[in-house]
Amino acid sequence: MKTTNNTILITGGSSGIGLGFAEEFLRLGNKVIICGRREDKLNQAKEKHPEIIIKKCDVSDAGERLELFAWVKENYPDINVLINNAGVQLGTDITRSFDSKKVGLEIDTNIIAPIHLSSLFIELLESKKESAIINISSGLAFAPLAFMPLYCATKAALHSLTLSLRHNLKNTSIKVFEIAPPAVDTELGSDRRDDKSKSHGGIHVSEFLKEAMEAISGDVFEAAIGQAKGLRAKREELFNMMNK
Ligand SMILES: NC(=O)c1ccc[n+]([C@@H]2O[C@H](COP(=O)([O-])OP(=O)(O)OC[C@H]3O[C@@H](n4cnc5c(N)ncnc54)[C@H](OP(=O)(O)O)[C@@H]3O)[C@@H](O)[C@H]2O)c1
Repeated sequence: MKTTNNTILITGGSSGIGLGFAEEFLRLGNKVIICGRREDKLNQAKEKHPEIIIKKCDVSDAGERLELFAWVKENYPDINVLINNAGVQLGTDITRSFDSKKVGLEIDTNIIAPIHLSSLFIELLESKKESAIINISSGLAFAPLAFMPLYCATKAALHSLTLSLRHNLKNTSIKVFEIAPPAVDTELGSDRRDDKSKSHGGIHVSEFLKEAMEAISGDVFEAAIGQAKGLRAKREELFNMMNK
């Protein structure tokens, strides 16, 4: 897809990968709207980049998703790209007592929100000559880390959803991308760590972005980045072996 002159909404654009995309798309001459739950994080981004548009929104809440859509439609009807990036990794242990609040939050944020937002925004996106939905899944969509089963299941669901959406929208102007990051050094998973300042490690956001932006500008619709490539390739190899 073209990477300039777009109007882009990035969910969870106030830190990590989302903020990285926001800064890169601003640099390339796009109008960028970011949303997130923490106002201080949004304000920090705005201080650094006065041209960025910020909106406080909790995408795990259906009412707030509807309100976000109505606000964008009213104020930025030229939107042509939706990046479903917001995600949480809570390390929910399903072999212990069922914490329905935690389970609900991880499912609502990681998979219900992309489903609902995509379905809301398609109407606006398909009226544009060129448009896109970019879903940020994970290498763990292809092979799960069993100590965080729910997170991985939401990402596998997002992968599957993206395949169907791409097929269903093939006769429209909307290109549907899946970007599957490897471990990237961000705040992700801090909710499940005692020391919130520690990261789970991984490559620098800039290294991730370089490859992700190449995939987006080159119309690579399903792009596993860095080490996530190995997980995707292995799964395909196994699938072919099992279904000979
Ligand atoms: N980092 C990795 O290793 C890695 C690997 C594979 C995939 N990913 C995926 O990449 C995406 C971005 O993650 P990241 O690594 O950049 O983590 P991050 O630094 O924690 O960023 C997550 C962003 O999502 C926002 N967010 C979380 N819940 C939200 C909600 N309910 N409503 C609105 N915004 C919400 C956060 O802001 P607030 O907290 O202020 O809401 C933050 O801006 C996620 O989907 C993640 O699963 C990351």
